[in-house]
Amino acid sequence: MNIQFLNKIPFVEGVSINHIINSCNTPFYLYSQKIITDTYNFLKDTLSSEIFFAVKANPNQAILKLMKNCGAGADVVSVGEIHRALNVGFDPNKIIFEGVGKSKEDIQYAVEKNIRLINVESISELRLVDQIGKNFNKKINVGIRLNPDIDGQTIDKISTGKKTDKFGIPLDQLKNVISLVQSCNYINLKSISCHVGSQIHDISIFEKIFETMKDAAEIALSSGIELEHVDLGGGLGINYEKDQNEININDLKKLIFKFFNDVPYKISFEPGRYLVAKSGMIITKILIAKENGGINFLITDAGMQTLIRPAMYGAFHRIEVLNDITKKNIKYTVAGPICESSDILAKDIILPKQKINNYLAIHDTGAYGATMASNYNSRGIPGEVLINESKFSIIHQEEKIFDIIKRDSIPDWL
Ligand code: LLP
Repeated sequence: MNIQFLNKIPFVEGVSINHIINSCNTPFYLYSQKIITDTYNFLKDTLSSEIFFAVKANPNQAILKLMKNCGAGADVVSVGEIHRALNVGFDPNKIIFEGVGKSKEDIQYAVEKNIRLINVESISELRLVDQIGKNFNKKINVGIRLNPDIDGQTIDKISTGKKTDKFGIPLDQLKNVISLVQSCNYINLKSISCHVGSQIHDISIFEKIFETMKDAAEIALSSGIELEHVDLGGGLGINYEKDQNEININDLKKLIFKFFNDVPYKISFEPGRYLVAKSGMIITKILIAKENGGINFLITDAGMQTLIRPAMYGAFHRIEVLNDITKKNIKYTVAGPICESSDILAKDIILPKQKINNYLAIHDTGAYGATMASNYNSRGIPGEVLINESKFSIIHQEEKIFDIIKRDSIPDWL
């Protein structure tokens, strides 16, 4: 999201950030409707495949409603995410339920809501779904999430497709799983899927995925399964840093043509980050400026409780100042207020000289930002704001810490 300065006032699209700061406490998350819509339309038009938005990346219901209005389906991983998607009007037939650990109650809920597919990740889950189908006296539409043993060459903590990862059913068990499905009375096998990790930058990994999934689909078809679709996962990498390689969607399109030009099933993707990361930023206030051991620290009200990605994955997010950019450049480390040394948002970055009460923008936080926020150190959960050209709306009220504290209850023996 670009910030433009008009008479030194920072604007995003037609909205002054100062204006938002007057109606929402910092830190807060800011999203651009236009960027989300444009990104979705570009991806959809280029890939000409079905797109299921991975709700986990940004489950705010305003964002989901926007995705729904764009025509996306929803890829969900919990009852909560199913509820959010249904609440904003997603057609149940456009919802796919993923997840490595579904309970009986979760599966029953999905069956009651008639969602399109339950993607099964283990033999025991398959048996459980069959049993639930029997109880409902209904055939349940199922997909098999395969673990293709492909290294997504991404951050280890967000890799999901190696055989030692907990996700999916190993590819070499596919034939056995198909035999099992064929002996189950309450399962309709409609799809196979995989997701080998997030932030994949190398197109050759997608080539491997496509080739492997095409072979797997052929095994299913030749075993008499009428596959409706093959889901190729999410993981489309974006460039948080200028020199980072972003997956080229036109190259992906060429690969789709190479492998799936003439197949009897549809293909789909389930991206999260690609669709929303760049639509978002966090606005934060500088609380303290200090020098420790030769390092110039700026301590902000956003921290690992607002954006955990730097502390958790060592991830980079660009930080920009919202004030006078003509000031002398200084090397800063921007850190949050949390009592953990890992609460660093950016190390050794160059910014114009800053002072207390200035504001900063932390970029590319539309995915895995608000959704991973916590109230660690007893801090509230920030608000979220959506910009639409020259209008803005608060799409999640700040959760004030005093309200959160009220939920504790002290037993009468204390
Ligand atoms: N499908 C499945 C089954 C997934 O597990 C995920 C992400 C996606 C799709 C969407 O992946 P994406 O297109 O967003 O890369 N918190 C981490 C990312 C964890 C992703 C988990 N699964 C981060 O902040 O980088």
